[in-house]
Amino acid sequence: MDPTNKPKGPSPHYSLYQRQVFKDGGLHGKLPSFSVHSDELAESVKKKLNDRGFFYANSNAGLGWTDRANREAFYRWRIIPRMLVDTNTRDLTTELFGHRIPAPILFAPIGLNKLYTPQGELVPAKIAGELGLPYCLSTAASQTIEDVAGANDLGASVKNESNSVHSYNGHGGNAKSPRFFQLYMGHDDQITISLLERAWRSGFDVCMLTVDTWQLGWRPTDINIANYAFYYPGAIGNEMGESDPVFMQKHGEELKQDPGKWIDSSVWHGKAHTWEKIPWLIKEWKHAVKAQQLGCEGIVVTNHAGRQVDGAVGSLEVLPDIVDAVGDKMKIIFDSGVRTGADVFKAIALGAHAVQVGRLYVWGMAHEREAGCRHVMKSLLADLDILMTVAGYPSITKDVNRKALKYNPYGIYPRGEQAKLILAEAVPLELKVRELRSRARKEDWEISRTYQVALDRKCEALAKLPETKRATLVKIDKFNEYIANIRKWMVDMRLLKEQYVASETPPQPSRTPVTQVTPGDLQGISARIKGLEHRLSKYCDVSAVSRAYQSVLQSETQVAVPMEVDPTTRPPTPDEDEWSELEEGEIRESPRQLSSRTRRSNVGPPQLLYQIHKFRASRDTHSAILNRVDQKSKAILNAASMLHQRLHGVDIPAFSDVALSVIGSEEVATMLQDELSSTCDAERVKAFLLKLNHETDVYGHVWIDLQKTLALARVGGW
Ligand SMILES: Cc1cc2nc3c(=O)[nH]c(=O)nc-3n(C[C@H](O)[C@H](O)[C@H](O)COP(=O)(O)O)c2cc1C
Repeated sequence: MDPTNKPKGPSPHYSLYQRQVFKDGGLHGKLPSFSVHSDELAESVKKKLNDRGFFYANSNAGLGWTDRANREAFYRWRIIPRMLVDTNTRDLTTELFGHRIPAPILFAPIGLNKLYTPQGELVPAKIAGELGLPYCLSTAASQTIEDVAGANDLGASVKNESNSVHSYNGHGGNAKSPRFFQLYMGHDDQITISLLERAWRSGFDVCMLTVDTWQLGWRPTDINIANYAFYYPGAIGNEMGESDPVFMQKHGEELKQDPGKWIDSSVWHGKAHTWEKIPWLIKEWKHAVKAQQLGCEGIVVTNHAGRQVDGAVGSLEVLPDIVDAVGDKMKIIFDSGVRTGADVFKAIALGAHAVQVGRLYVWGMAHEREAGCRHVMKSLLADLDILMTVAGYPSITKDVNRKALKYNPYGIYPRGEQAKLILAEAVPLELKVRELRSRARKEDWEISRTYQVALDRKCEALAKLPETKRATLVKIDKFNEYIANIRKWMVDMRLLKEQYVASETPPQPSRTPVTQVTPGDLQGISARIKGLEHRLSKYCDVSAVSRAYQSVLQSETQVAVPMEVDPTTRPPTPDEDEWSELEEGEIRESPRQLSSRTRRSNVGPPQLLYQIHKFRASRDTHSAILNRVDQKSKAILNAASMLHQRLHGVDIPAFSDVALSVIGSEEVATMLQDELSSTCDAERVKAFLLKLNHETDVYGHVWIDLQKTLALARVGGW
């Protein structure tokens, strides 16, 4: 879209975010650091969180069938695009409980955000303020009501196209941005009232009572690791209770003994409320907000993201019925399973007034805190805005209704089981490849693209050619195995890098500094740094490594040799031969010169030798790690080359040449031998490979022939 030609309208130009992403990449080489494809996002978050965070965010009730039903329900409703409609001026704005908001999207209440990012709820609350979208705070939050309100106002304090849409004509509050309070209602009314009053005073003017979670659902993947943050040392999740004067007055002492006191008594207490209690709550809340009428004004159509009742109906499946029953009398907020602009569109078309998203923003902040949360939410808004224009629907409130959809009862989400398996394999590789690509290596982009093509081909092949199913499966099997290896190497690479950087952490100087760096030292050091940079430039953040390296070397060389050396670590007095082991360029002085110099500065040869020993030991560690990095990187290049080779026949493009130049045939054979040892007779395969390699002398041919051979090897049980 041409940003100089923005049509005026009530709605922010969210679609321009797409352009910004493209420009950041195209002009400045800055790519998003994670995928906003929700399947990929759900997958990559595994690597960003520890088990507690990951499983709490992603666990579902039982076998996860309700979660699946949520997504399947979206699949069955199809949008009917309309062409040649004037969508130049679009309108996503809507109204909810007196708040005019820029788009019909809310931040769902999600508890325990500190599991995902150290600042917890402050992060999404701030981003919601930036976007002017309602933020709903959970009673199970890990930040206080007052702090969250502050973060939300902070986000809203800088005005932009999105949050300046917000206006309020209700009776509530003092908030700069719309914020709602989700209540888990305990059985101590005084505590409930205290929470409501705090929320009200902090500008939360809508109360959302959650009625499906008096008790957490049975979530096996949380059970497996006893995943209940409250009972662990340094518990998180008590912040709401600890900051509540009524709760603390009643139970403060008990909380010291029992960290579960807050959650077990006031949040997930296990004792059901019934409809009889609701008028009381409304009265209390209404009393607080001084509203005109009594009665619930809205309903959230949700199944808690499939986390409570397993095997339940998908949330979207029941939306039309609920809309038919009360849609004209109440505000309907929909959630559970919203991942894309199309999902928002479908829920609105089926009668919701707004939707909430939960996991999506959790995954975003788990990746990159504020920036990640902002990125997923802006992406969702852009996705919706763009969908509106490409599908020909200018106004979300006026044009998007059931006529925009067609129901298809026969859909299967997402694809056949086998295709699904392959996709599951594809996702991690794709992410790894993206990681590499962001290091600006053209070749990696190539892997990613060709991988996609290959994947599509595989899926097609699978669907179309049942008679060759067996052969195809053999290939797919191999393909996946090979991908698994790449993945392993990538992980190893990262570990190695971390290990490397960690090993470079400079020791704290604990000795008197004297200047003893000779020009030879400096020369050696700078040569070494250059070499290091060169070798690592393809795989690591070179400047960080270089900085770390420089500082360790500096501290090693500029720090004085100890005057009093610990006798236990001190090496024996050297004999002349040991001096000759010094490498050229490292210290360019003869033992005699060194001795006289060290004598001048009161530092004896044994100490200096000790220092040199240390220096060399640390250097040796570095080179050992470097060697391993090298080995791994060769393996990766090798694998990349294979993939490329495999997809493009024997015409090896430039980047494969790189691989060829660093990998000898022996290494290829060894690597493949390792790779294949679980399925074939490794020695035979290796011998075969070496022979082939010798005969053809072109590595690419080896791989091509290897494929055939492998199929034979497996079928024939080599
Ligand atoms: C990790 C997680 C924590 C949640 N915590 C709460 C909560 O504290 N209170 C609540 O009412 N709902 C909670 N929910 C439900 C969400 O408010 C919302 O219904 C759900 O996330 C929407 O589905 P989605 O994640 O597919 O968008 C939670 C959901 C998730 C995934």
